[in-house]
Amino acid sequence: MLAGMSYRLDQPQRPRRNRKNAVVRAFSRETSLSPDSFIYPLFIHRGRDKEPIGSMPGCFRLDPESLLREAEAALEDGIRSIVLFPKTEDELKTKDGHEAYNSEGLVQLSLRALKKRFPELLLVTDVALDPYSSDGHDGLVAADGRILNDETVNVLIKQAVSQAEAGADVIAPSDMMDGRVGAIREALDDAGHTDVSILSYTAKYASAFYGPFRDALDSAPKSGDKKTYQMDPANWREAIREAELDEAEGADMLMVKPAGPYLDVIRTLREVSELPIAAYQVSGEYAMIKAGGQLGWVDERRVALEALLAIKRAGASIILTYYARQAAQWIRAGG
Ligand code: PBG
Repeated sequence: MLAGMSYRLDQPQRPRRNRKNAVVRAFSRETSLSPDSFIYPLFIHRGRDKEPIGSMPGCFRLDPESLLREAEAALEDGIRSIVLFPKTEDELKTKDGHEAYNSEGLVQLSLRALKKRFPELLLVTDVALDPYSSDGHDGLVAADGRILNDETVNVLIKQAVSQAEAGADVIAPSDMMDGRVGAIREALDDAGHTDVSILSYTAKYASAFYGPFRDALDSAPKSGDKKTYQMDPANWREAIREAELDEAEGADMLMVKPAGPYLDVIRTLREVSELPIAAYQVSGEYAMIKAGGQLGWVDERRVALEALLAIKRAGASIILTYYARQAAQWIRAGG
């Protein structure tokens, strides 16, 4: 009975033709990953050795010598930009976070050393008080627990100028205080740093995906959470409002953070703004892929590259990722 049956599909449109072999697939490919898009986040400390970070296998707190070695290795892998995150000793953490603008602080010293050794490496710095605050918050904390906006901005501008003075090429405020982009732009310009860019953490969410990062820096809030300044993960329209404000205040690039769980927000900002869009594949995203790989449950290399490609496809032309070096090596080896 069945032997004589045949079905002839009248089907002029066959999308599979554009997937039939590797050459045609390459013709049809809309997005590709390149180390040119990567910013490589590095943790630094004042210790004498590099220390592994438990919840981020493959990442370390780097001592000054190891930092230079890592920067050199990153350049060799084709990474052209790094962002620094300092682990501050408890003795240096205060309520007013003044270590943030110490011209001899860890970040400032590291910037000078990096600039001197690798003038071609684009140096990005994080502006926020959490690594320096005895309260573990990005802003100043009042006696009743409120996070003080304008008072905080007045400290952030000193931090930004001090980083620019030490050689930062791009200042990235991650604190989420209102008005900080405009204030930082004005302070940088007044200090003569008109060429220093601002990469604003525009849509930074109050996310559980930052857990491993806070372990790395021992920077978790001592009390409360960050929900009065970081965005509600339920919202995307609010990201448009933040983007409009940051643009008006003079931001050069806008960031969405985290990245993978917020692809819709990346796409939205890509559509509403002409500025380059960055996305931060954060510590928790990295840790989950690593863990899945180490357990043998997923193919780390393929999952990591797919996650990064998806971030790019969503509209990010800049990706901050702890996978930067590995991904660059994998890409060079053919993906
Ligand atoms: C702090 C800051 C955080 C991250 C970057 N800058 C943590 C936070 O806001 O609590 C997180 C990065 C990551 O998880 O990889 N201002």
